[in-house]
Amino acid sequence: MTEQDFIPKGYSELIDSGTVTWESPSNIALIKYWGKRDQQIPENPSISFTLSACKTITTVDYEKKATAEDFSFEVFLNDEKKADFKPKIETFFKRIEGYVPFLKHYHFTIKTQNTFPHSSGIASSASGMSALALCLMSIEKALSNIQDESEAASEYFNRKASFLARLGSGSACRSVAGDLVVWGQTQSIAGSSNLFGVKYPYSVHKNFKEYQDTILLIDKGEKQVSSTLGHELMYGHPYAEARFSQAHDHMEMLKTILKTGDLQAFIDLIESEALTLHAMMMTSNPYFILMKPHTLEVINLIWKFREETGLHVGFTLDAGANVHVLYPKAEKDLVLEFIEAELAAYCKDEAYICDTVGLGAQQVNP
Ligand code: DP6
Repeated sequence: MTEQDFIPKGYSELIDSGTVTWESPSNIALIKYWGKRDQQIPENPSISFTLSACKTITTVDYEKKATAEDFSFEVFLNDEKKADFKPKIETFFKRIEGYVPFLKHYHFTIKTQNTFPHSSGIASSASGMSALALCLMSIEKALSNIQDESEAASEYFNRKASFLARLGSGSACRSVAGDLVVWGQTQSIAGSSNLFGVKYPYSVHKNFKEYQDTILLIDKGEKQVSSTLGHELMYGHPYAEARFSQAHDHMEMLKTILKTGDLQAFIDLIESEALTLHAMMMTSNPYFILMKPHTLEVINLIWKFREETGLHVGFTLDAGANVHVLYPKAEKDLVLEFIEAELAAYCKDEAYICDTVGLGAQQVNP
């Protein structure tokens, strides 16, 4: 598919008004997206587990305007007007207008809330942008008067939602549909695309079903360096090409791991990915460090616990100090005991969030 496939031929009617609601989850990358070209095209393939507890719920009220000159919208987070969210959404609307040409014809009231605290350091851009993209797709469906409920129609809907979400925030395209989602064209994954996320198409061993992710909230502060800037620093980065090609190799290795259920190899791969991501930050120009002392304390305790117990607990990191502790469902009770006894003390206010792999976004009926 190309960008052209997402340009609609026209709408059957511009209905006066309506309301749509979607809830969309966050996701945690196993192979990391870090580095992009213009218009949110990733430099390397990535794959993530979709989460279920950490999500954004967004309602969009739309009302036809008399004129269609500018974008017109208000944004609310937890019923509070958020003027500071507007520039990001304005940029998003500009990027996607060619694909959803009804945007200037309506006034939108966007009401959003997250199930995780805004200050938790958990990025809300993936869940937030995917929820908004899905709301826009539902509006497009209403304007197109599409009754087609076939599998092909639903696949197109999800693809275009993922395509739009990507233009809001790259990782958001992995939050639309599926438990394991691949984004970025790579030989290892048939059907993979730079334009949208696709469900991982191969068999997955039962060891990885309902995998657990406990997010340790190490630092709730604002990041010193945004992901957007971090991506930019991959331009001219001395190790960029090697890193991009490593991500393709990791995808091939992960395919075998997911098939055979090799938990030790899985841990080796995800921890290497997490530390490589942070190594790229530390070797950028300018360099920066997003890990905190407690991030390292926790990592060392996880390694010690793994060594002593033989349990399959590993970690990954996002672009921040928080640690995602990943482990199979079968080991949940023992690992949670360990987290409570030994790791919680390193979290701000001893706070952590227990999450599980989920299946993607869902429309909420009025
Ligand atoms: C480290 O998707 O937040 O979480 O496309 O600029 O919005 P933008 O960046 P974003 O980057 C996420 C980077 C990451 C790795 C990942 O999720 O793959």
